[in-house]
Amino acid sequence: MMQADLFADEKRDVELGPGAAILSRFALDAADALIAHIERMSVLSPFRHMETRGGKAMSVAMFNCGAWGWVSDRSGYRYDAIDPVTALPWPDLPTLFLDLANRAADALGFGGFVPDACLVNRYVVGSRLSLHQDRDERDRDAPIVSVSLGLPATFLWGGHKRNDRPARHRLFHGDVVVWGGPSRLVFHGVDELKDADHPSTGAMRYNLTFRKTR
Ligand code: SIN
Ligand code: FE2
Repeated sequence: MMQADLFADEKRDVELGPGAAILSRFALDAADALIAHIERMSVLSPFRHMETRGGKAMSVAMFNCGAWGWVSDRSGYRYDAIDPVTALPWPDLPTLFLDLANRAADALGFGGFVPDACLVNRYVVGSRLSLHQDRDERDRDAPIVSVSLGLPATFLWGGHKRNDRPARHRLFHGDVVVWGGPSRLVFHGVDELKDADHPSTGAMRYNLTFRKTR
């Protein structure tokens, strides 16, 4: 098992494009509290492998918190106020989550960001997320804020066309990516998670993506 490369050598923000950047370690101080919230909420709304429209189970397991949750099944993608697994509303967005997302958006010049949805992703070794746009939100003025926890991953940052060749950036525990404005609909994804052992999450990576859906 590989032990090196679990943590970034230095704190270094990376500009991805207009309105888009990696904020290195921005969430590091909050990371363990964020993970505790994820584990608590996943008792209320379990991680599940949603199906794509084509009927394939996604390798990333997910649940949501907030007023709206992103769901995918054979009928397609949508935001739903009710968790289809529990038939109950999604768990509330913790204040810590709201505050962090608001501060990260603000750092890129997107003031007053109040997300109404947070998708919680869980990657195990081999999980990946193919290139996609986040375009199921009615509000495209608000940015996307994405928080990485646990094992590092390779983030794929493409262009406005699916075929644009993506740049590859390592995302470490506590890193936050913000993309909005002219970069709001950029194609992005995550390469296959590699095996390692992280002190906070073991052999897993969590990701939070905050969205304002309406
Ligand atoms: C996403 O695009 O929804 C997740 C990105 C990530 O896991 O870093
Ligand atoms: Fe996404």
